[in-house]
Amino acid sequence: MGTLLLLHAFPLNARMWESQLTSCAGQGWRAVAPHWRGLQRQEEVDDSFDGMAGSVADLLKALQIDAPVVCGVSMGGYLAFSLVRRLPHAIRALVLCDTRAEADTPQGREGRVRMLAMLQDRGVAAVADEMMPRLLGETTRRTNPALIVQVRALALANRAAGIAGVITAMMTRDDSTPMLPAIACPTLILAGDEDVITPPAISEAMHRAIAGSQLVVLEGVGHLPSLEQPRRFADALSPFLAGLR
Ligand code: MLT
Repeated sequence: MGTLLLLHAFPLNARMWESQLTSCAGQGWRAVAPHWRGLQRQEEVDDSFDGMAGSVADLLKALQIDAPVVCGVSMGGYLAFSLVRRLPHAIRALVLCDTRAEADTPQGREGRVRMLAMLQDRGVAAVADEMMPRLLGETTRRTNPALIVQVRALALANRAAGIAGVITAMMTRDDSTPMLPAIACPTLILAGDEDVITPPAISEAMHRAIAGSQLVVLEGVGHLPSLEQPRRFADALSPFLAGLR
């Protein structure tokens, strides 16, 4: 049985994958979804993608998983690139969902510094409030208000120290663009056409840079397709996974 390693987005946690954790089992895939270290428990916090990739590599070793399909959404995609760097021959395939290979711009870093200050002053709720308007697509916000509540609750359930660790990791992460042409494993790039954090043009550029990659753009979907449209997300993923058998 193959393993799907599901890497969550910011400022959420691995519970964003609940629907996929259930559906994967029914399709003959074992799914593993780690929280960023320090987000959910009082433990040493990872504050770099290298550090978190090391924690995930340790988890894979402990679970005796050799060749996972790594599926990362947004920040999870940044982590997927670090895992490819760390375990270049151990990744069976990649699913890069609403993510980008570029590092933060100087302006983006300034925004992270402001977010860290906001976190310190006003806590996790302030970070959730800042991110929420951009996380879900316009169609989802109009038609599925319950999901807005659910996504906010996922963010609020995180510890401030863990959130600070993720922000620090994101603002100091490497540019992964130079490694794109060297990615040789099967790669699916998924994007929502209403994503304002990672607009589809970014996914299209990544598709051009990774030879042989597939690109699926989901209409009427924002930054979090697996939550906004779990059925259509699964319909995009299933043929790709089936092709790996
Ligand atoms: C995410 O969804 O993981 C974040 O929007 C990523 C980011 O802020 O760069």
